[in-house]
Amino acid sequence: MSRCYVWFILYLLCIGILAFVFGVVFFFSWVTVITQKSGASFYVQKFYVPALNSTAGGNYTADNTTSISFVFNIRNTLNNIGIYYDDLNVTFSYGSDKSLEIGSYKLDGFHQHANENTYSGDSVAVKGVPWNTIAQNGSKVDFRVALATKVRYHQMFFKGKKRQVRIRAVVQVNDTTGLKIKKKSIRLTSGATETGRSTGASVAFSLLIILLFPI
Ligand SMILES: *[C@@H]1O[C@H](CO)[C@@H](O)[C@H](O)[C@H]1NC(C)=O
Ligand SMILES: *[C@@H]1O[C@H](CO)[C@@H](O)[C@H](O)[C@H]1NC(C)=O
Ligand SMILES: *[C@@H]1O[C@H](CO)[C@@H](O)[C@H](O)[C@H]1NC(C)=O
Ligand SMILES: *[C@@H]1O[C@H](CO)[C@@H](O)[C@H](O)[C@H]1NC(C)=O
Ligand SMILES: *[C@@H]1O[C@H](CO)[C@@H](O)[C@H](O)[C@H]1NC(C)=O
Ligand SMILES: *[C@@H]1O[C@H](CO)[C@@H](O)[C@H](O)[C@H]1NC(C)=O
Repeated sequence: MSRCYVWFILYLLCIGILAFVFGVVFFFSWVTVITQKSGASFYVQKFYVPALNSTAGGNYTADNTTSISFVFNIRNTLNNIGIYYDDLNVTFSYGSDKSLEIGSYKLDGFHQHANENTYSGDSVAVKGVPWNTIAQNGSKVDFRVALATKVRYHQMFFKGKKRQVRIRAVVQVNDTTGLKIKKKSIRLTSGATETGRSTGASVAFSLLIILLFPI
């Protein structure tokens, strides 16, 4: 009878400890997710303006319509936090400011796992660039790419609130080949300086979560 009692106490103790550990893990997971502010990065990997390809003869119609083809690279740089993206609104402008908008594009919202890398390529019809007045002597033409969306970080069943993302980049294009001049991908930024990605505590507990819930 008394041995039974001891086992029962031990059993309760184990349940209690387990419940406590899970409680702590869930709590820190929740805190991590609601405090997460950044972790998605956006890059222009390819950018090609056929109208500026002088080998092709500069291909645009009488109303100055042509296309730009591009590949965007969207990276989740977080080790164990997933990201939900709302629809991504991309606007293209001619020149390094946003004064002459020439086209827009919508990329459907999606979900991205931790550490995942997503590539999305397409082409967009653009209109209004004064193609004829762009000298084709081997120098550069500026285009501006701006992106607006909302992202939501999540871990297990916890979701943070939606966070506004408004970023942009200037893409310099060779005026005789139509290709992006910079070889490396160009990162879109908000212009503001970046703040720390996560605190030490959230990193520690993220590790704990990885150990307990390998996804
Ligand atoms: C010019 O563009 C049209 C339509 O986009 C395409 O069918 C045609 O092949 C292009 N011509 C050249 C020389 O690239
Ligand atoms: C530029 O046009 C030429 C001729 O149409 C074509 O062979 C070449 O692939 C084009 N350049 C790019 C980067 O597509
Ligand atoms: C096309 O661009 C040229 C300048 O390169 C401009 O003179 C012309 O009016 C434009 N055409 C239209 C239809 O916008
Ligand atoms: C190309 O033409 C533009 C406009 O005429 C001029 O400002 C620029 O200096 C030229 N660049 C080269 C490399 O000749
Ligand atoms: C643009 O491309 C041409 C032909 O490949 C090259 O001669 C020129 O230096 C390039 N210009 C720039 C600014 O990269
Ligand atoms: C993206 O565009 C859609 C439709 O124009 C709009 O409803 C949505 O609010 C835009 N998203 C952002 C983040 O600006």
